[in-house]
Amino acid sequence: MKITLNSPLDMHVHLRQDEMLRQVAPLSAEHFAGGVIMPNLVPPVNSVERLLWYTDEVRSAVAPHTFEPYMTLFFRNYTETELLAAKPHMLGIKLYPAGATTNSEAGVQEITAMDHMYSMMQELDIPLLVHGETHGFVMDREREFCEIYRYLAERYPRLRITMEHITTAESVRLLDEFENLHATVTLHHLVITLDDVVGGLMDPHLFCKPIAKRPEDRLALLEAALSAHPKLMLGSDSAPHPIDRKECPGCAAGVFTAPILLPLLAELYDRHGALDKLQAFVSNNAQRIYRITPPPKSVELERTPMTIPQRYGNVVPMWAGKEISWSVVSTTLP
Ligand code: DOR
Ligand code: ZN
Repeated sequence: MKITLNSPLDMHVHLRQDEMLRQVAPLSAEHFAGGVIMPNLVPPVNSVERLLWYTDEVRSAVAPHTFEPYMTLFFRNYTETELLAAKPHMLGIKLYPAGATTNSEAGVQEITAMDHMYSMMQELDIPLLVHGETHGFVMDREREFCEIYRYLAERYPRLRITMEHITTAESVRLLDEFENLHATVTLHHLVITLDDVVGGLMDPHLFCKPIAKRPEDRLALLEAALSAHPKLMLGSDSAPHPIDRKECPGCAAGVFTAPILLPLLAELYDRHGALDKLQAFVSNNAQRIYRITPPPKSVELERTPMTIPQRYGNVVPMWAGKEISWSVVSTTLP
């Protein structure tokens, strides 16, 4: 059994900087034709200068692979001049509520107090990518944030909004309420619930923000992904942290999946008899939503077992050591 995926895209990935960037970027670039690169560096990518600098860093880290980095700016109060200068070099702007997750301290304090930015982005047709969590009780943060998504989607009907890494059944339903709402979903939220994180012995490598939710949430996400819901895209939120930042008290949030995404997705879609829907989920939906044409790249997978490595450098991937039934066999450029 084989499948060929054309120009797979990871629409939400953390590549970091320096050593970590050089270590993880080639792993994404090996299997993907492009990816949306998150801006939560220290300090954040929050100026045109830093955007251009980071683009160069990513491009040199992925070389010689064919991989288009779709860059994002870290949301703040920009002037129109800054937005116009940044626009040709990015896919959109990523909004983090202040303190919601890793390196988001410089995020937005009051989301509904930034209307000037949303109207400029709407007029300039710059997509808004959102980490949708309030500061409420951890299991309710995304549900509570739906109200803010409604506020944005209703007030700015021409602003293209992406709900990043959705984890709840409510978020899946919200997708169908507003034409201008889209979403990414991670692989890990399609396959784990909170039980896998803390239900038995705690697994720090499955700890992330937003935290994995209830079985019914996972099923709603899975159903939407397996049917290739036209407004849903793969966005792995692959977020590497060195092992000593994960296996410690005060464990950092983030699941590292970049190198195993496609084999695990092939296994998942195969198990549910939905392999014919995988191409839309890993590329076509994103191309349509963002109006992008990624570089051509064919990735061939087959039902041949592989064991997930224990480590990639100093980073532990999700399900390290587990045997899975699909693997990537070749990548070809035209
Ligand atoms: O778990 C997460 N890790 N969620 C995020 O939103 C950020 C990410 C990171 O940068 O480590
Ligand atoms: Zn992220």
